[in-house]
Amino acid sequence: MDLLGVMATKRDGGVLSREEIEFFIDGYVKGTIDDYHAASLLTSIYIHGMQSEELCDWTKAMLHSGQVINMENIAVPTSDKHSTGGVGDKASIPLAPAVAACGVAVPMISGRGLGHTGGTLDKLESIPGMSTMLDERSFLSAVSSLGVAFAAQTEDLVPADRKFYALRDMTGLVSSIPLIASSIMSKKLAEGAESLVLDVKFGSGSFLPEIERGRELGEAMISLAHGMNVPARVVQTAMDRPLGRAVGHSLEILESLACLRGGGPADLRELVCVLGGEMLTMAGVVAAEPEGEARIAAVLDDGSALELFERVCANQGWTGQHWFTEAGDPERTGHEVFCADRSGHLRFDDVREVGQALVALGGGRKSFADGIDPGVGFLWHAAAGEEVPAGSPLCTIHHRGARGLEEATERLSKAVSIEDEFESSPLILARI
Ligand code: URA
Repeated sequence: MDLLGVMATKRDGGVLSREEIEFFIDGYVKGTIDDYHAASLLTSIYIHGMQSEELCDWTKAMLHSGQVINMENIAVPTSDKHSTGGVGDKASIPLAPAVAACGVAVPMISGRGLGHTGGTLDKLESIPGMSTMLDERSFLSAVSSLGVAFAAQTEDLVPADRKFYALRDMTGLVSSIPLIASSIMSKKLAEGAESLVLDVKFGSGSFLPEIERGRELGEAMISLAHGMNVPARVVQTAMDRPLGRAVGHSLEILESLACLRGGGPADLRELVCVLGGEMLTMAGVVAAEPEGEARIAAVLDDGSALELFERVCANQGWTGQHWFTEAGDPERTGHEVFCADRSGHLRFDDVREVGQALVALGGGRKSFADGIDPGVGFLWHAAAGEEVPAGSPLCTIHHRGARGLEEATERLSKAVSIEDEFESSPLILARI
């Protein structure tokens, strides 16, 4: 195959054949095709986009660049969830055991936080003893016996994405719909779940803030899933304010536990019920979403989701009793109250600033090598749109010896304002 010819086809806006795509991706993973060739091809894709069959072939080639997990021996239906991420998004933590308590296994492979977005794995690893580094055998055994495993992506899963993503990050090629869709879907499909729910966030704390771009991404991902005969639904949800009231690792675990006890913030519970309702419907254990949502609410309220979560954590090393280590104890941090400067309605102008404020406190990463302080974070006392009197506490900042406190406070001042009139947008914008 003529490498320069393949690159020229895409450079000139043409369509790559399946053979050309397989040749390129295989060569790149094996190292016979260099980064500069790949950067050139990705730039052409960024500029010209991809036709739907071409994108499907590209995604399949990425998916088969490494190991594909086989869930055939799991006796119950399987379903997984992906979120495009944001600030305070801990939904996977109560969602997975709630769905499993309703009879659908959830093989949950998640990522780590970087920049303003948090990662499910980091949140779970703030639980004493909990490990998410499972090999394939332990992962499948936990999914089979308990119905849930929380795991990190192994080196062998979609190696093409690992290389492409690092290259895109270094060359300004992340924000392309076909490249994002193929990156997310190759990984999700390699995990082997029989159906997928995709939580695509919109708003200032999300990866693609504009509603229309999120919709485009959602449609591209649905079409890829359907092209591979995997049922999938997209739910477009609000990230124009943090999800729930807690931002920071131990604080988010405590909020997830509150949800698993039938309480917690209303938006977190609603999101868990909606996503879970979609998963139960696609898995065929309920006839339609409202019944699925009611089933999820019931297992949150009767303690069965919590009981399962405790068993899953114990299976993955949780030492029991306490949900945070001494370092993660939010009560052992310094507390500073951030107050409303006038009376009116709370509005989040830039949620990304809340995520960056957490990074300033030491509770997030600027690069993958950074450590995380699990105890720091924010607990909001008011929700978006809520009326607050002048001087009332908007949030408590949990800090470690005032590290980054000044920067965090400045960022919170940029993140929120108090308006005379402000109504927050609905949590669930659309389902695709
Ligand atoms: N998340 C991914 O996994 N891939 C992308 O390209 C963007 C976000």
